Amino acid sequence: MNINDFISKKRDGIPISMVTSYDSWSAKLIAASDVDCILVGDSVSMVLHGHSTTLPVDTRQMAVHVEAVRRGAPESFIIGDLPFLSFRMGMEKSMENIAVLMRAGANAVKLEGAAGNLELIRHTVDSGVPVMGHLGLTPQSINRLGGFRVQGRGKEAADRILDDAQSLQEAGCFSIVLEAVPGDIAGSITTGLNIPIIGIGAGIDVDGQVLVLQDLLGLTAEFKPKFVRNFLDGASLVKKALNDYHHEVTERSFPGKTEWYE
Ligand code: KIV
Repeated sequence: MNINDFISKKRDGIPISMVTSYDSWSAKLIAASDVDCILVGDSVSMVLHGHSTTLPVDTRQMAVHVEAVRRGAPESFIIGDLPFLSFRMGMEKSMENIAVLMRAGANAVKLEGAAGNLELIRHTVDSGVPVMGHLGLTPQSINRLGGFRVQGRGKEAADRILDDAQSLQEAGCFSIVLEAVPGDIAGSITTGLNIPIIGIGAGIDVDGQVLVLQDLLGLTAEFKPKFVRNFLDGASLVKKALNDYHHEVTERSFPGKTEWYE
C-alpha cells in the first residue's frame, strides 16, 4: 500500500484496514498479513505503558516505537501519531517533531483535531509529508471532552465534525480517522468527502476501519468497548500457554530430551 492507494481504494469502494503496532515483532506479523497499513498510535501510552490516558507519551518515545515498527515491517505504509501538544508548539518546533517521526521511519503523520492545525497541516503537506487527520473522539482532548464518550450527537455537534472534516480535506489531509461518532453521521461525512474516512466506533458506512491490535487479538480482556470485536481469544490462549509452561517446568517435563544440548 502507498499513499495513492488511499484515494484509489475510496474511488473503487474497497475498504481499507489499519491496525496499530508499537513494536517490531507485532509489526512483522502484521506485515505478513493482508492488513493494509500500520498506525503507531499514541494509544501506546495506555496499551503498553499502562497510563490511563494518551497524554504522557512524548515525541521521543513515539519515535522509538516508530523505529521498532519500521524494523519489523520494512515495506509497510506506517503512520506515526503526533503525541499530545507536540504539534501545537508553533510552526518551527512542531515541524521538528514531525521530522523526528519521519526520520524514525514513518511514511505519514497523524494529528488530532482541526481548529488551529490547518496552517501546520498545509505546511507539512507542502513539505512532502502526508497528514492523516483524526476527528470525533480525540483522546488527547480528554480533559476538555470530560471522558471517553461518543461525539457528534445532535445536529450542531454533527455539523461541526463535518465542517472540520471538510477543512482537513481542504488543508491537504490524505485521510481522516473518525472515532466514536454515530454511524449515520460518519456515513454522511464519508459520502461528503473525497478522501477516505477510517472509522473506529463509527459504524460500517465509512471507507475503512482501524483497531488497536491488542483489542483485536482479545489481549486487553478488561477493555471491551462496544466497537471492539475480539478476532481471537488472546488473553485466554496466552494464560493457558503460560500455565502449561509453569506446570511443565514444575513437573520437570520441560525441557524434553530434544530441547537441550548434548
Ligand atoms: O492512538 C491510536 O491508536 C489511535 C487509534 C485508536 C485511531 O489513534
